[in-house]
Amino acid sequence: MTIVDESVIDQCRKEVESVVDQHDLDQVKSKYLGNRSVIKEAFKRISSLEPEARLRASAAVNAIKKELGQIIFSRKEQLILLQTQKALEKDKVDTTLSADLWQGGVLHPLSKTMSEIKSLLYKLGFDIAFGPEAETFYYNFTALNTPRYHPAVTSQDTLYIDHPDQEDLLLRSHTSCVQIRMLENHKPPLRIFSPGRVFRADTPDATHSPCFMQCEGLLVDKKVTLSDLVAILRYVLEGFFGQSLKLRFRPSYFPFTEPSLECDIWFKNNWLEVLGCGMVHPNVLKNVGIDSSEYRGFAFGLGIDRLTMLRYQIEDIRSLYEGDQAFLQQGSDAC
Ligand code: PHE
Repeated sequence: MTIVDESVIDQCRKEVESVVDQHDLDQVKSKYLGNRSVIKEAFKRISSLEPEARLRASAAVNAIKKELGQIIFSRKEQLILLQTQKALEKDKVDTTLSADLWQGGVLHPLSKTMSEIKSLLYKLGFDIAFGPEAETFYYNFTALNTPRYHPAVTSQDTLYIDHPDQEDLLLRSHTSCVQIRMLENHKPPLRIFSPGRVFRADTPDATHSPCFMQCEGLLVDKKVTLSDLVAILRYVLEGFFGQSLKLRFRPSYFPFTEPSLECDIWFKNNWLEVLGCGMVHPNVLKNVGIDSSEYRGFAFGLGIDRLTMLRYQIEDIRSLYEGDQAFLQQGSDAC
């Protein structure tokens, strides 16, 4: 008994050859191999046969099924090739065209902001410092007076790294870790700033990006006061915006500074938050072996993306990370 007539193969081949796009090919596929195909029907009938007959029949149907599958698959490959060739034809590069359209590179807006902040901080005697982007829990939290059970650990939405040889590895959630790395290796007095990327498990939207930029600042010396911090921030912010600014300091909380403050600027008729800062917490100094009765310090963390967006009137933080040439080239004059 033949469960499926082999002529179905030729019939399918003919139909497949006349097909010119993927959509029609899918139709043919479901006709021959889909739920209501002869093949599916055949398998249903086979299930009621005696074991031996069932074995023979299913081998025969499987062979036909395989052949049909191959016919359809090789047409699929042909169609993809044809489609690619057509696309290439369309995009063909005309090498006889003039090269006037050549575009030079431009500095990324974040790089521009960073280089301006850098030159302002250099003028104040701060040195540049760098730390790794893949940090340990210790540098990102513990040494910064933030023990594991502290709510700030979760509020930072940290991205952890699963590493075979190293425990407690994460993508740093702020640049404050560089404070510890510097203080461990340099005796005060110390003045450093550290620009770089930081990472948080945020869903991207107009104001959030899982990767963004901060610039940490740290000064440790014998006589340091909050008003020194305010003066330095005013110098940097006014230098960056090229105008005098109204600043507002609000009490805030960071485990590694006490007191802690948030700084807003009055810009285009709004108070806008641009940084967090404060006096270095004595526990932080203690963690790096510095006597807090002798030394004090202040630290600040500038939001580089925020400053860039305000300065260049960029409304969506994602445009800073998408690498869209049309967007980036707009800055070519200001470069
Ligand atoms: N690290 C803080 C943050 O990411 C900012 C900060 C830096 C606050 C230095 C105080 C001192 O939000």
